[in-house]
Amino acid sequence: MNTEISIDNLIKIVAADGKVKTGMDVYSTNGVLLLAKDVLVEKVKILEIIRDAGISSVPIDTAIDGCLWDDNGNLVKINSDELVHIPAFDAQNTARSVDLQTSDSIFPDMATNEIEMKLVEIEEIKKQAFLKYNKAKKSIKKVIADIKATGGRFDFDEVEANVSVLIEFLTVGDNPFSYLTQEIFSYDDYLYNHSINVCAIGTAVVNRFNTHFSNTVSNLLCDNRSDVDTPFEKKSEQQQNSFACYYPDELKDISLGFFLHDLGKVMVPDEILNKQSGLTKEEFIEVKKHSYEYGARLLEKNGIKNSMIKNIIYYHHAALYEREEKCYPLAIKHTQIPLYVRICKLADIYDAMTSKRCYKEAINPISVVTQLFRKYAKKDKILQYILHSFVKSIGIYPPGSILFLRNGQMAYVLDSKGPFVVPFTDEQENTLKSKPDPFIISASESDQAKMIDNRRSLKTPKDVYTILPSYIKRIIRNT
Ligand SMILES: [Fe+2]
Ligand SMILES: [Fe+2]
Repeated sequence: MNTEISIDNLIKIVAADGKVKTGMDVYSTNGVLLLAKDVLVEKVKILEIIRDAGISSVPIDTAIDGCLWDDNGNLVKINSDELVHIPAFDAQNTARSVDLQTSDSIFPDMATNEIEMKLVEIEEIKKQAFLKYNKAKKSIKKVIADIKATGGRFDFDEVEANVSVLIEFLTVGDNPFSYLTQEIFSYDDYLYNHSINVCAIGTAVVNRFNTHFSNTVSNLLCDNRSDVDTPFEKKSEQQQNSFACYYPDELKDISLGFFLHDLGKVMVPDEILNKQSGLTKEEFIEVKKHSYEYGARLLEKNGIKNSMIKNIIYYHHAALYEREEKCYPLAIKHTQIPLYVRICKLADIYDAMTSKRCYKEAINPISVVTQLFRKYAKKDKILQYILHSFVKSIGIYPPGSILFLRNGQMAYVLDSKGPFVVPFTDEQENTLKSKPDPFIISASESDQAKMIDNRRSLKTPKDVYTILPSYIKRIIRNT
């Protein structure tokens, strides 16, 4: 049931230590989201902001999840803006009793609130990421259709404009596309998805590498100065001497290169690209041409002279160490491969291995990163640094995915940092009736049972939908 309630009344309740959840989004008159529907408001400030934005009352949708609680945890019933306090015990007999009985308490505790806030954040980023992802997909689809229709021409300026929007979104947080996990990645659209994924992963890695490189060099420059006395002077020197590996325009070109890295595949026959069995020698020669021959030809045809984009397209399959097998072209030495091309190659391998294809299942991201470390980290120091940036920036446990703990419990990832998780099943994979405290899994965790079981694959929520608790199911339904 949707009831309007005055902001002044809400402020009174919250000021007296009550809590409120609207159950629906509250927007300003010009469309800015002021309060997301599942946020539990415990501070007056946010309500004052809403009031200052010219909103005098907000809808509370009790049919969805809207609710008011007073300072004793009693449910407050709304009757034409007249507030009736119902003791917690009696509240179970009201129309909302079904919801209340399934939640662990009428008065949400801090842990529940923390989970709710994280879930709302995941839901919002997922929605945004989904929109941006589809926009980027339209762009690469158009490029490919144009190339096929015109025999090689496409609108480079349009791609540049679209990728700029994409990069802006990608650099706001930590690889927001990781929030999409593999849910929307069907193998039918592999080439389109792959272009965006390599762009997203590569951009996150190159940005992280760049920031760390800049900080390290700045610190070195500062530490080597003997005339730096005070922390204040040290800081100003540091700012002056800050030295980035790549500058903003270069980073943009690099991301654009990541997006277009496999452009030449448009000219490889579909029956070879989608072949389910192994390729013949001749077919492999044809596939190899997508980089240094077809890709190169398309750049030339469209007058694209940018050397970074060119290097990425030409060399993203080149050897990263001496005598690395199945690499091409052979005309370049591994020591000559620029850093951003190395990042592209690793992002390319990572995405290919973690994606579902018509001839193979997706591999668990943890196993892929472990394999990359085994193969490349010892070969040279730069590759080791890139792989560290890789792990830090892509987040191996994407928010919204599901992992197994060593005790057999399944846990939902709220944040890839840590990761920060909330278990939702018992050890026999039965859904828990209450929401346990979320926790960060750290390597130094003394409770071994609560460490991640890396032998078992990560799941997507869709795979285990039937055993998800309702508070997680809701996110899947809404995104
Ligand atoms: Fe490629
Ligand atoms: Fe690729």
